[in-house]
Amino acid sequence: MFGSNKKELITTNELETVAAEDSESIFEKNKNTIKKLIAPGGLDASYTNHLEIASSRTRYARTMIVAGLPRMCTFPEFLRRMYTFGDINVSVFINPLSESSSQTDLNRTINELESERIVAWDRGDINRERVIAQKREEAEELRDAIAAGFNKLFDSSIIATIFAYSMDELERYTELLSNEMSKNLIDIKPCWAQQDAAYRSNLPFCDNKMTKSHTFDRRAMSTVFPFFISEVGHETGIPLGFNKQTGLPILYDNFSSKLNNYNMVIFGKSGAGKSVTIKTITSRSAVLMGIDSLALDAEGEYSIVAEALGGVNVTLSPNSKTIINVFDIEPELVKDEITGKERSMLSVENKVEDVTNGLLTMARGSTRSKEVNELTKQIISEAVAEEYAALGITNNVESLYTKDENGNGGVNLSANYLGRVKKEMPTIGSWYHRICRKAEENENPDYRFHYSYLVKVMKQYVREYQGQMAYFDGQSTFELNESLPFINIDISQLEERFARPLAQQIMLSWVWEKYVKKNSEDKTKASKKRVLVDEAWMLLPYPEAVDFLNTMARRARKRNVSLAVISQKFQDFYEKQEVQAVLTSSDTKLFLAQDKSEIQYLKEVFKLSEGESGFLITCNRGEGLLKVGGDSAIIAIQPTKKEFEFVETNLSKQVAIEKARREARERGELN
Ligand SMILES: Nc1ncnc2c1ncn2[C@@H]1O[C@H](COP(=O)(O)OP(=O)(O)OP(=O)(O)O)[C@@H](O)[C@H]1O
Ligand SMILES: [Mg+2]
Repeated sequence: MFGSNKKELITTNELETVAAEDSESIFEKNKNTIKKLIAPGGLDASYTNHLEIASSRTRYARTMIVAGLPRMCTFPEFLRRMYTFGDINVSVFINPLSESSSQTDLNRTINELESERIVAWDRGDINRERVIAQKREEAEELRDAIAAGFNKLFDSSIIATIFAYSMDELERYTELLSNEMSKNLIDIKPCWAQQDAAYRSNLPFCDNKMTKSHTFDRRAMSTVFPFFISEVGHETGIPLGFNKQTGLPILYDNFSSKLNNYNMVIFGKSGAGKSVTIKTITSRSAVLMGIDSLALDAEGEYSIVAEALGGVNVTLSPNSKTIINVFDIEPELVKDEITGKERSMLSVENKVEDVTNGLLTMARGSTRSKEVNELTKQIISEAVAEEYAALGITNNVESLYTKDENGNGGVNLSANYLGRVKKEMPTIGSWYHRICRKAEENENPDYRFHYSYLVKVMKQYVREYQGQMAYFDGQSTFELNESLPFINIDISQLEERFARPLAQQIMLSWVWEKYVKKNSEDKTKASKKRVLVDEAWMLLPYPEAVDFLNTMARRARKRNVSLAVISQKFQDFYEKQEVQAVLTSSDTKLFLAQDKSEIQYLKEVFKLSEGESGFLITCNRGEGLLKVGGDSAIIAIQPTKKEFEFVETNLSKQVAIEKARREARERGELN
């Protein structure tokens, strides 16, 4: 079928004759084979640097081979530019090398490098000596890893054939591909005078006739696999799970520029695997992409993740010493519309609104008292604004700091360090005293009832009166450290019906102030952060909380923050008009196993097929429907065994894992 240097054209007719002679019956003779159907009219292999494929329209093909590779291959795919080049066929031949031959070769290389290093040293060429020493060290590490069974070597050839409809085009594509590949430091060369053998090697017969090959270790080898056929996902990111239909891994980049926003919602029935999934996402993103996360932990199940990732765990309860001050206000980085530069400012008006909403929820209490109305809100709000004004806090950031007796800009020399001293913030206690004073001074009969209501009801939040929920009264006892991979705020010990959702709301607002607002609006400077709210359904009965969640979802993208809302009962969210922004501002939606009662609803909203909706009722834990933008896929999320050690939510299973680890440690298998 292939001629080499002299012009030799074999047509499909001749091929058919050969096939016909071999066959037995007339029907067999006339039967078309797949080969016959797809074969071109003929191939002209008489040229040194390309082939001509004769068909109704002549095509030109040039086969090239990867001649040089960078020292390191980048995850997940370093050949992507080649795979997606256009009209191209690529073959990657992978031959595992035996451990003994790898060891022998590496030992030889190590000896050679060492000799070279000594020569360089003798000549006083320290730069070369250092480079060779490093190479030798790497080779030794690799040899040891192979001996221990952690790594393996492979021999691999990479062959690509590009096609075009004219020679000019072929030349252009050749240059373009070379340029594209050189961006990744990959050197490709046409197979000069070997075009026919190279072309045949690139047909799916697993018959490599080319001798040029490269040595890969296991990690580098994994980067040649094309992962991009999945309908959902991104080119880079964390491995999220597997596409159940194609079997391909799904990579997901929460901060991909292809996403309209970075928020995520996860819905599923109890036990569907929501918490395990978000923990897996969080820990993989922390390790692989440096994304920091903060969790509002309503069930007390995230502390172990914080521990595993090297983060902190803060517990809020009537017995703990932790205090979160609702009045904390922080400077915010905003872009100046005229100069485009970022500057720091305080937005007191917004803060007054947030604190008022928090206090309003507190005032309504667990019974969600109807007696609290606009007038109550106004009274609360006025007193909050007065609290900031009394401390001289304005929109100027300087107003946050104390001045010394000479009025010098906030630098307190007597404090024995050249740092500025922050003023003490107002507290619920100071605000309560103001309300009591104002109640006494009040002469307006319309306000009388509201004042006396607040004086009575708000006492339970004041530390001075041993209030039961006084953990929001006082100066905050901890700062949110910027550079922690995981911060967990555990509110699980609070009473479930009111104290916990209230804490969720107050903490959301506090986290916004202390964690989100500090992030720059400039993407190049901002760090990637995630705020996750598990058991978000708890917030739904509280209008101010819902309002805050909504606002946060809308504003998060601007601050380079991803809000992850996790809940049972999708229907409750969807039907609540006030919380719509959470759904519409979440480009990523994951639906895990659903209750039968819920599925009809989901089916209508997302126009799911019978198959998809049936799957969501019967699927296993960790399986579900992933929607990213307009694309969707059936996904299976499988934490690794190691990950299960800290993503497990089931306490008794957690205890069993811990026990097994302890026993293994005692046997000396773990350190
Ligand atoms: N991907 C998974 N593969 C295997 N088992 C899983 C997976 N995800 C969760 N599980 C198991 O299911 C149990 C429940 O998971 P999880 O706590 O994440 O559910 P949930 O949806 O958060 O439930 P709830 O709404 O009650 O909080 C876990 O104890 C875990 O063992
Ligand atoms: Mg859960």
